[in-house]
Amino acid sequence: MTTTDNSSQLEEIIKDITDRRSLMLASNRGPIQYFRDDDGEIKEKRGAGGLITALMSVLKATGTIWFAATLGNEDRIKAKNSPLIGIPEDEPEYYLRLIDLEEDTFNRYYNDISNSILWFLQHYLFDPIYTPVFDPSLSESWEKGYKFVNEQFSKAILDACIDESDPLILIQDYHLYLVAKNIRIKKPSALIFHFIHIPWCSPDYMRLLPDYMRSDILNSLMCCDIIGLHNSRYVKNILQCFDEFLDVKVDYDKDEVFDGNRVVKVGAYPISIDVDDLLDFSRSDIVKDAEKKFLNKKGDLSAIVRVDRAELSKNIVRGFEAYSLLLERYPEWLEKVKFFAYTYPSRTEIPAYEDYTDRIRKIVSDINQRFGTNSWQPIELEMTDDFPRSVASMKNFDVMLTNPIFDGMNLVAKEAAVLNKTNGIIILSENAGAIDELKKGVIPVNPFDIESTSTALHESLQMGANEREAMSKHLKHVVSENNISKWLLDQFSDIRDLL
Ligand code: G6P
Repeated sequence: MTTTDNSSQLEEIIKDITDRRSLMLASNRGPIQYFRDDDGEIKEKRGAGGLITALMSVLKATGTIWFAATLGNEDRIKAKNSPLIGIPEDEPEYYLRLIDLEEDTFNRYYNDISNSILWFLQHYLFDPIYTPVFDPSLSESWEKGYKFVNEQFSKAILDACIDESDPLILIQDYHLYLVAKNIRIKKPSALIFHFIHIPWCSPDYMRLLPDYMRSDILNSLMCCDIIGLHNSRYVKNILQCFDEFLDVKVDYDKDEVFDGNRVVKVGAYPISIDVDDLLDFSRSDIVKDAEKKFLNKKGDLSAIVRVDRAELSKNIVRGFEAYSLLLERYPEWLEKVKFFAYTYPSRTEIPAYEDYTDRIRKIVSDINQRFGTNSWQPIELEMTDDFPRSVASMKNFDVMLTNPIFDGMNLVAKEAAVLNKTNGIIILSENAGAIDELKKGVIPVNPFDIESTSTALHESLQMGANEREAMSKHLKHVVSENNISKWLLDQFSDIRDLL
């Protein structure tokens, strides 16, 4: 598979930009996290996720300062001892500035607001008969948690660019919506780009937020120069929200919003994966070992695979309901298929996530009891973070089920497309951001419709070899043409146009 290499063009643009502007980057989770090893010493590990890897690669030799929250005690100790941490510490290419947050403040900002309100809102996860309920404790978390933390980030960024009139500030995601306004007030000529990695909901759903939150968020985002999202649906939704809730003018043809003389550009930049990196890893010994184990368990069975965080928006329970219906309606699959479900724990401090994990375990055990035989277990569920195992399964699935309720992008679908070597079929929710790019090479499903999802499973399992091959080829082509470097290149090109 050949990938489109934009790296030299990207390097050139970043050099041009950083020669002219100093670069600041802010995200909740930083590139490095500190922990204590068995001997009680503080050690560092790389922050989780593809975004971190992508951004780290472009920051080389730029002197950028990356602002991130302290996520645990060891981070807090490090933040107190070293206000600016060189990465790497001996010969720094860029710097990490940890925003020191007390545990209670962090919980209010991260668990109460970011993940229990904003994440739910933007993925349409509320059950409006009962939730959300905005009581005094939530408005306190908004003030003492979310707003406070956003102010801490803003102050640290402003301190760092005290001598710069027009720094370039890149803000990531839903944890930091209020930073842009704080910066704009003090640095009117800063160039501010906020990238939102999750969906943006419709104006009607946005009405679930109390006025003060909605107006704080939208007014702050209006202080950006560019707002980036993953696809055109989210762009349309955010433009409609600006139009409906603020006194601004929206140009739907150019995707621009005008507030007096200021213009905010809104763009779709679909994030991707580092294809070459992933393929290199997939050839490593650790993955080869995991593959042996996987193939051994698979034997002659057809393999349905899913790989996800144990996350409410991923719709894992409905995925199993659809599988149960498959076994009931199409008994020819009994003892012929196995569902390998690899999920890993996430946001365990939030009670709804704990309940969801229990529901996953329960439905798996019910299905295994109902349909299992002495020699065949319909589902294997592993709830541990084991990336080599997941990669091994993605190389060898017959069908991959990714049916999120709503999802900003769904990088797992892109990883599976690139990794798979058995012409496996991907069933993808029509509410995943990735559907725009991948729709011709996947079987799209309505994530709420378990009946059509079970039919999709049946049809995918029995699809002919030629069609499988054509779909698989198409997906590999699309994903490798739109590598992670393209995501970065498109953003930095638009930034350069504004300098
Ligand atoms: C997903 C989303 C990102 C988000 C991240 C936060 O990966 O796509 O937009 O930043 O979750 O996860 P965390 O584990 O840091 O809460």
